Amino acid sequence: MYDTGKIIPGLLVFVGLVTFPIWYGFVSADGHLPNPEKPTKAKQCVESTEFMRTSHMVLLNDWRDNIVREGGSRHGKTADGTEFVRSLHKGCMDCHTSKRKFCDECHTYAAVKPYCWDCHIQPKEAN
Ligand code: HEC
Ligand code: HEC
Ligand code: HEC
Repeated sequence: MYDTGKIIPGLLVFVGLVTFPIWYGFVSADGHLPNPEKPTKAKQCVESTEFMRTSHMVLLNDWRDNIVREGGSRHGKTADGTEFVRSLHKGCMDCHTSKRKFCDECHTYAAVKPYCWDCHIQPKEAN
């Protein structure tokens, strides 16, 4: 009844195109899973690791609004009492010293490109 010889390949191409963003996101350029570098400087992040994994972008926005608009403090402490600066460059990147081996490791994989570095200084990379 139908010309399955054309419909099936046609369907495959269609499904491939529709799901492109999904499978594209799961295979990074060299096909490995993200493995963000562990900081050596401290044992804990500014919030729990689980929270940071899912919500670091929200936290960064909160820091910025709080500091720039509400004149909030630039100083914070982790749960174990390690002091840090509430700042992208002087805080996050003080512990996570490599943008390439930390932030980019996940972002390339997830195909996100935060524009923050247009203005904020990124750490010098050893390469
Ligand atoms: C005082 C040092 C310190 C600061 C400042 C810090 N981090 Fe962390 N961060 C850590 C440590 C240590 C871990 C790993 C904790 C663990 O292994 O459970 C971590 C984990 C993370 C993770 C999860 C990584 C993974 O492997 O899943 C993310 C995401 C993250 N940090 C983002 C940030 C961002 C964004 C900032 C700034 C808002 C920041 N961190 C500031 C020390 C820090
Ligand atoms: C454990 C993996 C992981 C690490 C490490 C990580 N990110 Fe992310 N980040 C993500 C994911 C996944 C998204 C996209 C989330 C979404 O779209 O909901 C994201 C999104 C963001 C966004 C929002 C971008 C946008 O366009 O919406 C910012 C800002 C950001 N990350 C900053 C950072 C900074 C700064 C670092 C390094 C200090 C970092 N992230 C490290 C996984 C990570
Ligand atoms: C157009 C330039 C520009 C862009 C793009 C930008 N910022 Fe900022 N950001 C600033 C300036 C200017 C300040 C104020 C600096 C200060 O007072 O220390 C600031 C302050 C902040 C602060 C608080 C102080 C500090 O030292 O970090 C955070 C956190 C922050 N920005 C996060 C982000 C994040 C996350 C992104 C990307 C999603 C981003 N910014 C993109 C210009 C920018």
